Amino acid sequence: MFDLKLTNATLPDGRTNMGIGITNGRIAALEPNLAGEAGQSIDAAGQLVSPPFVDCHFHMDATLSLGLPRINESGLLLEGIRIWGELKPLLTHDAVIARAMAYCDLAASQGLLAIRTHVDICDERLLGVEALLEVKRRVAPYIDLQLVAFPQDGYYRYPGAVDLLNRALDMGVDVVGGIPHFERTMADGAASVRALCEIGAERGLLVDLHCDETDDPLSRHIETLTYETQRLGLGGRVTGSHLTSMHSMDNYYVSKLLPMMAEAGIAAIANPNINIVIQGRHDTYPKRRGMNRFPEMLQYGITCAFGQDCMMDPWYSLGQADMLDVANMGLHVAQMTSRDAMRQAFAAVTSGPAAILNLDGYGLDVGCKADMVLLQAADPIEAIRLKATRLKVIKAGKVIAETAPRTAQLSLPGRPAVLDPSRVGPQA
Ligand code: FE2
Repeated sequence: MFDLKLTNATLPDGRTNMGIGITNGRIAALEPNLAGEAGQSIDAAGQLVSPPFVDCHFHMDATLSLGLPRINESGLLLEGIRIWGELKPLLTHDAVIARAMAYCDLAASQGLLAIRTHVDICDERLLGVEALLEVKRRVAPYIDLQLVAFPQDGYYRYPGAVDLLNRALDMGVDVVGGIPHFERTMADGAASVRALCEIGAERGLLVDLHCDETDDPLSRHIETLTYETQRLGLGGRVTGSHLTSMHSMDNYYVSKLLPMMAEAGIAAIANPNINIVIQGRHDTYPKRRGMNRFPEMLQYGITCAFGQDCMMDPWYSLGQADMLDVANMGLHVAQMTSRDAMRQAFAAVTSGPAAILNLDGYGLDVGCKADMVLLQAADPIEAIRLKATRLKVIKAGKVIAETAPRTAQLSLPGRPAVLDPSRVGPQA
């Protein structure tokens, strides 16, 4: 007797008519035409059941602050950082928590059940750290929230950041962050990468640095990060976020860099929605896209993921906690249009970021946590194309969010009265 059973599910790997039996918050059985009684049953009706979406790169201390204290009119990364600097002294503990909780409600409704958020530690009060640690406790029943100690204004450039970062880690922040391209010199940036990786090694923590988020083809902190990962034996525990300079690097140089990244076991994150609007701002025409070389990194076997980065904050006015929107943008920017590449784009918002977060028990296999999403789509490609409705979001074997199927009522002579966009496909 299962607590919950899903029938007639299609899985991301293409298996169809699958039954998923759930007991005590874990997947107890997974097979075609699964027999057995259950306390509750859900007929997936052939639609896609996926592990939950994972956002491996977000800034929850800034989310939903759009317009505070002013709008970013230029759209530049550096104006966003200036606005955030103006807002920081005005932040209150309660307001940061309220905004983050509102965001997490939306995330849960979108099947986004694991998030790595950077939290700015360049603040003597460490207000964001305290607030997001509280949010992490509150949302723990439904969202795995991982915090990164992020020195937004520079580990060496901001006075006191070295101490503040250590204090944040002492308070329970999970991951070591950094921003080498924002340090005063390339040498300082490289030194920060070395110091931050050493902290990760000493404390046994994961490392995730904002790295080379610039159009400068000579910004090459990823090379240092790769070197330090190898030197300190941190393979599988270090991530380079953004890496937008890679777009502009010399092709020969990249042909050396990517195999070294693969060899070191370093992971890479692209944030396509924000970097397609923030990068290339100093170009006239042609304008560079400013996203890292995502498909090429995948070809080298580098663990890759798409992150959302921002939603309604000083850097980005849009977004809706929808990782399918992020996958859709990433697919377009990176021209990942083959069938395999589109499936890789889906993996880049599910299994890829789950690996980067080192999530325990993630996936659709017997023994995994019973966390999953029923989508109004036939397969991962359709899910991305339609930015599919999350019909049901399941956490630890319980339905925690439901959304009515997207349908349209038609009043057309001789045509069906109801249109389900997920059932409109290629026809002979
Ligand atoms: Fe970021």
